[in-house]
Order: sequence, then C-alpha cells, then structure tokens
Amino acid sequence: MSDYITSVKNLVYTYPDGHTAVRDISFEIKRGESIGIIGANGAGKSTLLMLIMGLLMPQSGEIWVEELKVTPKSLTAVRQRIGMVLQDPDDQLFMANVYDDVAFGPRNYKLDEAEVNERVTKALQTVGILYLKDRPPFRLSGGEKRAAAIASVLSMQPGILVMDEPTSSLDPKARRRLISMLKELSQTKIITSHDMDMVMEVCDRAIVLKEGRIAADGLARDILADCRLLEECGLESPLSLQNCPLCGSKKQDPGH
Ligand SMILES: Nc1ncnc2c1ncn2[C@@H]1O[C@H](COP(=O)(O)OP(=O)(O)O)[C@@H](O)[C@H]1O
Ligand SMILES: [Mg+2]
Repeated sequence: MSDYITSVKNLVYTYPDGHTAVRDISFEIKRGESIGIIGANGAGKSTLLMLIMGLLMPQSGEIWVEELKVTPKSLTAVRQRIGMVLQDPDDQLFMANVYDDVAFGPRNYKLDEAEVNERVTKALQTVGILYLKDRPPFRLSGGEKRAAAIASVLSMQPGILVMDEPTSSLDPKARRRLISMLKELSQTKIITSHDMDMVMEVCDRAIVLKEGRIAADGLARDILADCRLLEECGLESPLSLQNCPLCGSKKQDPGH
C-alpha cells in the first residue's frame, strides 16, 4: 500500500462568479503527517479544504483519499475516511445536547446504541469534555464548543482530520488547551490557520498558499523561520520566533 493517503493533483477551482481561487495545486500527504496550510485571507485555504472534502468539485485536476477518487459518487465513503471540523462550531452543533451531537454521526452509520455510547464516551474523553455531555451546545463557551465539534468528528473515527482555522476566536487558555489536544491526536491532520505559533507547535509540515497557488511546501520549522517568504505571502513569523521588542534578543531557535 502506498505511503501517501491523500493526493491532490493539478487542482483548479473557479467559483461561479468567475473568480479562480485554486490554481494548479498539487501535493501528497503521508499517513500520520500533520500539515499546516497557511496563507493570508483569500489565499484559497478554505476552498482547498472544501475541494478535499468534496463539498466543491474542481473544474480540473483530481483528489485521491486512500484508494478513492473524490467524486459525487464516492462522497459517502470519502467522508468515512476524512472528518472536517468547520471553522464555526455553531455550523457543526445542532442537537439539543452535546451527547446527541457527538452521537449523530455514529447513529447515521446505523451502529447499535452500545457502540454509539462507546464511541461518544471515547470522543468526549479525548477532547476532555465528557462532563459536558448533557449540556445544550449553544450554552457552551467558545473553547468548549470547539472541543464538542472536534468530538462530533472523532466519534466517526476518521483516519484523517481536516480543520479550518481551529484556534480562531478562542481565548488564550482555550487555545492552549486545544493545541495540547491536537498534539495528542494520532490522526493525519490537515489544518488551515494564520496562527503561526499553533502551526509551529502542532504541524511538522507547512504548505504556504498565495493567491491560489503553492508558494512553499516543506518542514514547518523551516518555513516559519523564513521571514521573507512569510512577508511575501502576507504572513508574520510566529511570535515565539520574533526577537524581543524591548531588548532585541532572539527568543527561540526553530531548529531546537
Ligand atoms: N462563494 C464564493 N464565490 C466567489 N468567490 C469566493 C467564494 N468564496 C471564496 N471566494 C474567493 O476565493 C478566494 C479564496 O477564498 P478562501 O478559500 O475562503 O480563502 P481563505 O480561506 O484562504 O481566506 C478569495 O478571493 C475569496 O474572495
Ligand atoms: Mg478560510
């Protein structure tokens, strides 16, 4: 079996209004890799994720997830392999309580309730919010909602997790908790963000998008230390790599 579990080949996507958001993008992802897709607003990050999930279909090029080519016919099987955490958890949580939201996917697979319960409990434990299982999702804090949205994807046991801007709108404590959790998850991860510090901690590889094209693809620690590249792509170095604004001393060497 190939080491590459997802591959994107010469992908092009133009929105109905004529705007081309993804221009000839190709890359391959290995099992277990953690990839940060970074780029300024409008670079094409969300469009790329929607193409990978089959929520949009490309005008040309193709996407493979394991042995499946993403087409309208293969979508059900593709989504058993890849789970997507949406940018806004309110779009992902819609049941009366957290338990039912996390059980929604497994129940859809027609699993028996004992197995549903096992999966829900495990997913909620993984994200550290089992104690919130009976609460209505709309009453939760931003960080708790994000954790519940992640659990609702984990309960379907996908091998690949796709997340669009997972740290956006989180306070520092919730963000820190999320980063620790992401580092613990063993799934292959594809994460878009402009939180460079999160990408540096969670991802081993980074792909930089600029105006719908790949501007760089390599080790996250190399890419995030390349100030000129980041600036050209409308990004900033991670705070943890910036020199101290008071004394000018260097904070951290990305190689160590
Ligand atoms: N529904 C849409 N119709 C037309 N253009 C869109 C639509 N959604 C996004 N775009 C455009 O496509 C480009 C990429 O958008 P997006 O993938 O959302 O970027 P990012 O997630 O990197 O901020 C942007 O120029 C954006 O304005
Ligand atoms: Mg986006």
